[in-house]
Amino acid sequence: MRVLVIGSGGREHALLLGLSRDPSVTELHVAPGNAGTASIATNHAVDVVSSDGVLALARQLDADLVVIGPEVPLVLGVADALRDAGFATFGPGARAAQIEGSKAFAKDVMAAAGVRTAHSEVVDNPAKLDAALDRFGPTWVVKDDGLAAGKGVVVTTDRAAARSHAAECLEIGHPVLLESFLDGPEVSLFCLVDGETVVPLIPAQDHKRVGDNDTGPNTGGMGAYTPLPWLPDEMTTQIVDDVVKPVAAELVRRGTPFSGLLYAGLAIGNDGPAVVEFNCRFGDPETQAVLALLKSPLGQALNATATGTLADLPPLEWEDGAAVIVVVAAENYPGKPRTGDVIIGAGGEGVLHAGTAIDASGAVVSAGGRVLGVLGVGADLAEARAQAYERIDAIKLPGSHHRTDIGRAALEGEISI
Ligand code: GLY
Repeated sequence: MRVLVIGSGGREHALLLGLSRDPSVTELHVAPGNAGTASIATNHAVDVVSSDGVLALARQLDADLVVIGPEVPLVLGVADALRDAGFATFGPGARAAQIEGSKAFAKDVMAAAGVRTAHSEVVDNPAKLDAALDRFGPTWVVKDDGLAAGKGVVVTTDRAAARSHAAECLEIGHPVLLESFLDGPEVSLFCLVDGETVVPLIPAQDHKRVGDNDTGPNTGGMGAYTPLPWLPDEMTTQIVDDVVKPVAAELVRRGTPFSGLLYAGLAIGNDGPAVVEFNCRFGDPETQAVLALLKSPLGQALNATATGTLADLPPLEWEDGAAVIVVVAAENYPGKPRTGDVIIGAGGEGVLHAGTAIDASGAVVSAGGRVLGVLGVGADLAEARAQAYERIDAIKLPGSHHRTDIGRAALEGEISI
């Protein structure tokens, strides 16, 4: 099977690594790729948001399966263009991708599906902002109702900070979504979805704030671990039955069936799971940890989803033990990151690339905010953590930073539901 993966970044590198372990995958290609993907796939300099460009590449490679990683091409309909041209494509069409592309659409689908989520209000007029803020908080949750790659959310007890984020979004013409704050530990549950068929992967937990002990601004995610020792298996079943299946069924009912990866971000509160957000793609950095424990062939699972045969896929099998991924971020991230610095140790075992490139001299350099994800796998969370942090010690990137507490609260029994 010749597979083309669209999109660079940590989760795409993890997808490529997973695909490279599947014996049915004979060729691996990626667009545009990064310094890390170049060692396991052929990188192609194609603009991933251009349907014409991606289609031309899929034709040139005679791809058997195209996997679209990021939300922007999905929301823009790149999967529709590929499917219309006859390519087996992993990723939803533009209309179903609105589950991530528009928070207001997601709320509407959840209301129709009877799924618990935060109370919310859309504000699109700056004159109405202050009155709306008064109806929420503290804590305020302010979301950019456009694509923000998991980065357009501000959660704060400071009304002025909430107001300033909302005003910035409104200024650039994006409506904002104000939400009531959902309490309880967060879970990321990724599900393969093909119409009404839902196959969950193992649950993971992201760490969204930039600093240890959940301090500082929100980021795209600074690290993750899986599985979650504090989450009973029945809760995963409950999330699938009460959240993901009803949403998948509602999308089918609307004539926009979902095909690809539906990512439910949830808070597990006193009344059970409630949805914080849906994404239409694999999450970053949870994917790097989750796929590290997948025993079943990844290419076959993605292909079954893409070809509408997910219901026939044998149950997924998982390694025992735990996986931890720690993000190494560039100086100043989540602000404008410093880039162009040479990275020492970027080729090490368990080092997944996100914002990296190869410079004119052939050196691996930083090229984005989240530069690397460093993986640890072990018999339990303690071993996996220890391996990830040992590997980080061998990496040198001037000005870089990482959290030192990924998975710590779970390990020390501080999380309960
Ligand atoms: N884990 C956050 C995201 O992928 O959006």
